Amino acid sequence: MHNLGILLSGRGSNFEAIAKNVAAGHIPNACIAVVISNKAEAGGLEIAQRLGLTTFVVPSKGKEREQHDREVVALLKDHEVDLVCLAGYMRLLSPWFVQQFPHRILNIHPSLLPAFPGLEAQQQAFAYGVKVAGCTVHFVDEELDHGAIIVQKTVPVLDGDDEHTLAERILEQEHIAYSEAINIVLEGNYDVAGRRLVRKVTAR
Ligand code: GRF
Repeated sequence: MHNLGILLSGRGSNFEAIAKNVAAGHIPNACIAVVISNKAEAGGLEIAQRLGLTTFVVPSKGKEREQHDREVVALLKDHEVDLVCLAGYMRLLSPWFVQQFPHRILNIHPSLLPAFPGLEAQQQAFAYGVKVAGCTVHFVDEELDHGAIIVQKTVPVLDGDDEHTLAERILEQEHIAYSEAINIVLEGNYDVAGRRLVRKVTAR
């Protein structure tokens, strides 16, 4: 059984999509061991509590980054988490945190990286005038929105779009992409060469 640990700061729709897929058996042999938020008011916490999951708030305000990370990592280890999923977690992880879970921390970003890292990626893409937008699930390394890419999904930008309609359609794809990426990583049937994740061909 794989224990997932979810870190979030807000709404929690990506977490909810993962939880539904776990419950439906679409992410086999996995359970959500713990949900941790750095914000007490995060909507994702309510969803987690409604689902009967174990939740913690670890406030980050006023704490040194690594001190906060040490508290979070202690909880993840207490709950024997083997894959950490950042789902709208609005904190950059310290290098120390990243080293605790090598190639075992995933993040989702609402753009086709390396385009538009950072905040409000959908708005950045819309304002830039791109014709194709999308989302990326990637491994977390020491740099923001940077590690090797696991899954990307594209979304066409329509003439009638505004930044909100575009963000909504990207979010639908995020909800599909994250569980796909988790399955790829949990199956473990891949190599990472440099930045390239390549799935191994399995003999039938
Ligand atoms: C998503 O757009 C995700 O890509 C980004 O933060 C947002 C979180 O939304 N990292 P939600 O909390 O999962 O609804």
